[in-house]
Amino acid sequence: MAAKTWDPDWPFEMGGGGTPWDALVYDPELNLLYVGTGNAAPWNRKVRSPKGGDNLYLASILAINPDSGRLAWHYQEVPGEQWDYTSTQPIVLSTLKLGGVDRKVLMHAPKNGFFYVLDRASGELLSAEKYAVANWATHVDMKTGRPVEDKAVADYGDGKPKLVFPSPRGAHNWNPMSYSPKTGLVYIPTIHGGALFANPPGKSPYLPGRFNTQVLNGFSFMLANPESLPPALRPLADKKFLATQPEVAHSAALKAWDPVNHKFLWTVPRSSFMDHAGVLSTAGGLVVQGGLDGFLRVYRDTDGQLLKEIEVGTAIVAAPATYTVNGVQYIAVTAGSGGGGWSTWLPQNIAFRKGNANRILAFRLDGAATPVPPDLPPPGPIPEPPPQKGTPADIKAGEGIFAANCRGCHTNTWPAPLPDLRRTTAATHAIIKDIVLKGALQVRGMPRFDDVLSERDVEQVQAYLLSLAHSAYAGQQAKPAAGLQQGHL
Ligand code: HEC
Repeated sequence: MAAKTWDPDWPFEMGGGGTPWDALVYDPELNLLYVGTGNAAPWNRKVRSPKGGDNLYLASILAINPDSGRLAWHYQEVPGEQWDYTSTQPIVLSTLKLGGVDRKVLMHAPKNGFFYVLDRASGELLSAEKYAVANWATHVDMKTGRPVEDKAVADYGDGKPKLVFPSPRGAHNWNPMSYSPKTGLVYIPTIHGGALFANPPGKSPYLPGRFNTQVLNGFSFMLANPESLPPALRPLADKKFLATQPEVAHSAALKAWDPVNHKFLWTVPRSSFMDHAGVLSTAGGLVVQGGLDGFLRVYRDTDGQLLKEIEVGTAIVAAPATYTVNGVQYIAVTAGSGGGGWSTWLPQNIAFRKGNANRILAFRLDGAATPVPPDLPPPGPIPEPPPQKGTPADIKAGEGIFAANCRGCHTNTWPAPLPDLRRTTAATHAIIKDIVLKGALQVRGMPRFDDVLSERDVEQVQAYLLSLAHSAYAGQQAKPAAGLQQGHL
């Protein structure tokens, strides 16, 4: 299909996502199934839906009667969502005493930074309070149940770039939070961070098979390095403006939230902004959370006091579970890096030092020591690459194709979860078209691109990869240590 010029009428009537990919809870007492729905992607809603409207049922909680399949009620957390705020985060059902009355509630801490308590029989909004820095809305109007957006701050549809909190990572993502009926607290793996959005005027060419939303987007920590940003986002790096804004560096913390009085009782910072593993709380008074830094930690539920820290040497992202067999209680967790950390291992991630040993770990009080994987050996030298192909123009074009298609997975650093393509051998280079266009490594997770790339495109990417390999190799030969540097973000 030939690229055509982007046509402003083309995508207007299309929806923008709303995929339910996580929260799904059944309440047998009320015979209701609760589903959290997704975002509309970062997409200017004035372009997506020029006639306006809330875009039901994006970023919503739906209560469905599973017998009839009919909707019992719905509550939309972000009407006309345009910041990547999914409402798919895990839902917790419980009973809370509110105003002296026991209410059957549904609790939710979606990406948008508000903690919601709903009556789960009727969908009535009982409270919605910020549990993170969130500037896209000032508050939720309890009469209408709708957020009151701060449009001057966050609505990038007016043509100006905006710094919006939380970021598309969310104030809380898919990693399960945990409610303890014993303490009445919800333990949330929270994330702090903002994002940059702009929808500059003008039209870019329509590219089949791609995002064509025309929205420029980046994380607030990128403001530290404005040259890395597209020009339309650079005005946000203005020092005077930033002095009035929340902290742009990203971070993560385990926080104990009181859903009745809307405050935090304790907070434990995590090793990096990517470190926000799922949480378990127990009737025995423990809060358990793993870390990207390769530890499983046990806290006292009332005050966050660290009771035990077990070195496991494997990054933990998932939530631990607990169960009893023959009277012995176990805590088990699936360990391994990933889960939205994508292609780069930050130095705070233990995989950076030890690689990624995916495994299930189970603990009991009289258990043995956890086997900790050894450190990775230093990287071998970069092998001599096959001869350079293509012209300087091909290399330049290949760099663009690589950035648009490949860099999300291949960082070309060491260590990294995916192959460093500076080290690809001559034999593999010889079959690169089979790999990239025909899916020769598809079963191992390398996608095929024949729907969006041509043979010519692959030749240009190859020219770029060979130029990368040659300059790394030359650097290594000139000064041995230089080619062996570890990767960084
Ligand atoms: C979704 C993630 C992903 C994307 C995007 C991706 N790759 Fe890969 N690629 C992989 C994985 C996983 C492997 C490793 C497969 C294996 O273990 O053999 C791989 C392997 C390769 C290899 C073999 C490397 C070697 O030395 O063995 C080449 C070459 C390659 N990819 C090129 C590309 C190019 C070019 C693009 C962009 C057009 C691209 N990849 C995009 C995931 C990805």
